[in-house]
Amino acid sequence: MSVDTVSLEPIHMFLIRKVDGLSEKQFYCASGVDLLTAARQHGVIIPTGCRSGGCGMCKIQVIQGNFTLGTSSYAVLPKEEREEGYGLACKIYPKSDINFLSK
Ligand code: FES
Repeated sequence: MSVDTVSLEPIHMFLIRKVDGLSEKQFYCASGVDLLTAARQHGVIIPTGCRSGGCGMCKIQVIQGNFTLGTSSYAVLPKEEREEGYGLACKIYPKSDINFLSK
């Protein structure tokens, strides 16, 4: 006999805004989903490489909002940049609405 488990954690939806340049794009990201995946699901392009926190191609700067940063290489995201709000979109898990700058 098998028993299925059901997660009882509530799902939150956060409003994410890409605010660089002359255009502004926005989309929603569910809690537990990385920002890069949510962006792609909504047709918002962020440069991508490894998708595992190792190449740095998806680096963005969060200018407003909170997030959890998953395992990310210090070679491509040094401590100083982390302190300035930079993160790797493939490893950013929003904890609030977010405004960010990207290439
Ligand atoms: S795609 Fe390589 S670090 Fe995010």
